[in-house]
Formats: sequence, structure tokens, C-alpha cells
Amino acid sequence: MSEGGQTSPAFTPRIFSGIKPSGGLTLGNYLGAIKKFVAAQDAGKDSIFCVVDLHAITVWQDPKDLQVATREVAAGYIASGIDPTKSILFNQSQVPEHAELGWIFNCVARVGWMNRMTQFKDKAGNNAEKVSLGLYAYPSLMAADILLYHATHVPVGDDQKQHVELTRDIAAKFNHDYKVDFFPMTEPVIEGPAVRVMNLRDGSKKMSKSGESDMERINMLDDADKIAKKFKKAKTDPDGIPESIEGLDGRPEARNLVNIYAALSDQSAEAVVAEYAGAGWGKFKPTLADLAVDKLAPISEEMRRLMDDTAEIDKILRLGAERARDIASPILKKTYEIVGLVR
Ligand code: TYM
Repeated sequence: MSEGGQTSPAFTPRIFSGIKPSGGLTLGNYLGAIKKFVAAQDAGKDSIFCVVDLHAITVWQDPKDLQVATREVAAGYIASGIDPTKSILFNQSQVPEHAELGWIFNCVARVGWMNRMTQFKDKAGNNAEKVSLGLYAYPSLMAADILLYHATHVPVGDDQKQHVELTRDIAAKFNHDYKVDFFPMTEPVIEGPAVRVMNLRDGSKKMSKSGESDMERINMLDDADKIAKKFKKAKTDPDGIPESIEGLDGRPEARNLVNIYAALSDQSAEAVVAEYAGAGWGKFKPTLADLAVDKLAPISEEMRRLMDDTAEIDKILRLGAERARDIASPILKKTYEIVGLVR
């Protein structure tokens, strides 16, 4: 399923997406995002992938942990199959044009639009007066990330849909206010069975890097024992795998495990239900854990190897940033001209 309206034909197709280095990578990031990035790259799409460190600091990050997390996300991209010679891979802060275009978009986006962002409301909770101004403005920086490259498609998990829609609103208002057709109407690409991987202990919540308990998520660097234990302890219900997909209605935890299995094995949830119809959790959970270990162990092994060589990762990010700037810099320059800033 590809969402959103038509992209103007004047823009050549280009993919952009990003991941925040705020803690380690999870299975949600892998299935909802990275696995799809690799597929897009391998299909020959023009692809740019970013470690969005400026987004991470919208909430407090210990400086040393931020460095580790930045390299971990970079290693996660590469170990999963992103080839930095085919795609552009870099960290956001090495391309200052992101922050510059972000400012312009702060002056385009309306406060009312920001007030509707559900992720801000979730994160700020009852504490909205005390969170950083950056957290509030975050979606306009995200729009800058995307539009700085005239990206036409943004593969993301379901939780980012509203932000990509806001990106379209910002592009449309900019184009309208300045009477240009300069920024594309970017489409979110939200596909497959794992667009929203849920918390293993509470199927009503998203699996996230920052959840309270480690047992609620699978981290990309978890070893085989941990993965097996977490799936074994995952919350389920007394019924096993139903006879048909409708039997998962109203059973978020059961649905989540089926979806994870489907995404890991490149099948639809329907096919998984058909294969395991009638199986109890005692059978399904160990099979799921084996599958997850099978798919994730080679990635985590490679991530560890890459993370041991920080100089190599830093070099890849630096070279990626240079290539990113070659695209970003003329687009920012033109934006400044359109806005009337004297250069
Ligand atoms: P972040 O870092 O929270 O997540 C990175 C990507 O992983 C997806 N994802 C999930 N997908 C399915 N199930 C889950 N439980 C799950 N958790 C995370 C996210 O949807 C995302 O695709 N604002 C973004 C980062 C960003 C960005 C961008 C993305 C900044 N600029 C420009 C795209 C384009 C974020 O916080 O993602």
C-alpha cells in the first residue's frame, strides 16, 4: 500500500528515510523500516538513509551514549544490507543544511499544525511545559530532512505517517506562498505486516527503544538466549493460532506475534495463520524465536564487528555526508533565493 496523493512528475523518484540514535535499534526499527530500506536499495532505487542525531537530542542524550548509539544505528543499517556505495548513508549533523532548511520550515509550518502531532502529545504527556522547544519543532526538521533532497518517497513505520503528511503540508504551503513548484508532494510508503510492531508485554503499545522494560522489546543486539526468553515470556491469550485471520480480531498480542513471524519470513499474516492454524503458543513461540535468531544473529554479529571499528564507521558517515551535501546544498541555495535572502 502506498499512501498519499500524486507526486509531481517533475521530480525524479528518490527515497529518503531516517532513524534516531536514541538508544539501541529494535526489531520494530528493523521490520518497520530497515528491511524495507534494503529492499528499495536492492531494487535499484535512488536511496538516502540518515542517522538523525539532531532529532535524538530533542530529549536528553548523554553525549557518550549518543556517540555509541549513532555508530550502532549506522552499523545496523550496514549489517542489514545497506551498501554505502549504493545508497547514501550519513549522520544528519554532518550536513548543516538540515538545520538551515529546518529553520525556514519553522517559519512556514503553523503552530496549530504542530499542536495536532500525536507523537508530540504522547511524548510530552502532562509535561508539555517542560519538554524542549526542539521536541515541539521536531516535525518541521523532519520535513527538512526529506525535502532537502526533493525525496518523493519515504518508507517508514505507521507511527511516522502523520509526520510525512505534515511534510506535504509544509511543501504545499511553501510552494503556494512563494508561487513555485519547488518541493515535491512526498508520499509515505507504509507496507507489509510489520508497519507497527507492538510491545511484547502489552499489545496496545508500540515496541520502542525507550520503553520501561527490556522484556517488552527485541533489541537488534540481543543474543539467541535473550530472544528465546523474550518470546517465551511474551504476553498471549489462552487461544492459540486461529483457523483464519479474522480469529486475530481483538487479540493484539496474538496478532503481533503472527505479524512478526510474517515479516521475518517474508509472508503475509494470512499465510502464517494458514500454516499454523490450531497450533498452541507452546509450539508457535519457539518456532518464532528460532526464526528470529536465524534472521537476526548474522546481523547482530556483523553489527558488533562493525562497531569495534569506529574509525571505519566514522569514515563511511563522513563520506556519505559529503555526497549528501552535494545534493542538499544547491537545493538549500535555491530555497534561500526563493525566500529572498541575500547571499
Ligand atoms: P524512529 O527512530 O523512532 O524509528 C525509525 C523507523 O523505525 C520505525 N519504527 C517502527 N516500525 C514498526 N514498528 C515499530 N514498533 C517501530 N518503531 C519504530 C519508524 O516508523 C521509523 O520509520 N522521526 C523519525 C526519524 C526521522 C525520519 C526523518 C524518518 C527523522 N527524519 C525523515 C523518515 C524521514 C523517528 O523518530 O523514527
